[in-house]
Amino acid sequence: MQDQDAPDQESPASTDHPVDAGHGRRERAERIRTDLTRLGRPDHGFVNPAITRASTVTFQTVAEFEDALSCDLQNGPYTYGLLDTPTERSLARALASLDGADGGILVESGLAAVGVALLAFVEQGDHVLMVDSCYGPSRIICDGLLARLGVETEYYDPRIGLDGRPGIESLLRENTRLVFMESPGSVTFEMQDVPAITAACRKRDIVTAIDNTWATPLGFRPIEHGVDVVIHALTKYVTGHADVMLGALTARTRPIWDQLKTTAMDLGHGASPDDAWLALRGLRTLAVRLDAQEAAALRIARWLQTRPEVKRVLHPGLPADPGHAIFERDFDRGSGLFGILLHPVDTESLARMLEGMRYFALGYSWGGFESLLIPQHPLTERTATPWTEEGTLLRASIGLESVDDLQEDLADGLERLHA
Ligand SMILES: Cc1ncc(COP(=O)(O)O)c(C=O)c1O
Repeated sequence: MQDQDAPDQESPASTDHPVDAGHGRRERAERIRTDLTRLGRPDHGFVNPAITRASTVTFQTVAEFEDALSCDLQNGPYTYGLLDTPTERSLARALASLDGADGGILVESGLAAVGVALLAFVEQGDHVLMVDSCYGPSRIICDGLLARLGVETEYYDPRIGLDGRPGIESLLRENTRLVFMESPGSVTFEMQDVPAITAACRKRDIVTAIDNTWATPLGFRPIEHGVDVVIHALTKYVTGHADVMLGALTARTRPIWDQLKTTAMDLGHGASPDDAWLALRGLRTLAVRLDAQEAAALRIARWLQTRPEVKRVLHPGLPADPGHAIFERDFDRGSGLFGILLHPVDTESLARMLEGMRYFALGYSWGGFESLLIPQHPLTERTATPWTEEGTLLRASIGLESVDDLQEDLADGLERLHA
């Protein structure tokens, strides 16, 4: 073992305030605030890790050099910059701790994390169930890469098993290897019955994965609900400042972690230590940013519900939302991304509204300090459960501006629809 600036060698799930399922929700949400200030610290007094930029790692002996290829990649000595560095290990352990996972893996984007989860468990002839409300590029991986590899993807209704619909069991086949969820979906915001889906899959040894980017580990802890693989686009709320691309996967068990890590290595995935450091810094303020962004989003959402131009607001934290009961049952909190379904609007009026906004910008991504407002087109994306609601769908990501300014900006924007 070399003399390295190793992060704290505690097990990933241990912190001063272990985040176990036994605490009441409110108490746990409070304790996570303390965890966020302590996770990923090095063990020699500094409160943040150093940034270790590395490709080469040197070894003292030939035996160490030869053993490097078969060492424990999660807790063993560092071997090569692509596999991990002390900075990255600090973040991976912090995320694993927050998720109650057996380990974390960093990759260079949220989409890379989705790709690793989709590829890690399948081979030619296998069947994957992907939720119909998933992030668009996740669908592109399924329809392109997986299809070329001879893996069939079937899309399923996000509200499968709910309101009298048959459960996921009805779609499981002999060759089903993976069921992928995203709850709520980041375009149409349907909530899924995650515990029911994972219970059915467990009985058949089918791996389950979820894209948990909307909720973050502070809002929803999928592993407690039986999920095997959790995907985070850290690009969004965790880094929070619209200046980093980064993704992560956490695994319920060590064998699952091994399979994910092998796949990430096979594909040459990795992350930059600078970005990992920024994400760890983002974790320190994640709770207060989410407090502000969720509260502002809900205040704006409630006000939007009173506007004549708005047909419906899509945020599971709103009592009127069809996913609210599941949100209340499973989630500790929500976030600041939501949908605004307008009564049908023509293209020119919509452009007038969106191009004239003072604070809401037109841009991809979300979860940063800056508010964004973009059009969405679920009609063209879904295949299993066509989007039938008439109207023009927008998606708002609420940032850290004054809520009064944002509301005024939206009010003026809605007025421009009538101009
Ligand atoms: C729900 C969801 N998952 C994954 C991603 C991909 O993350 P990244 O932009 O880091 O590739 C996004 C990006 O918008 C997303 O919205």
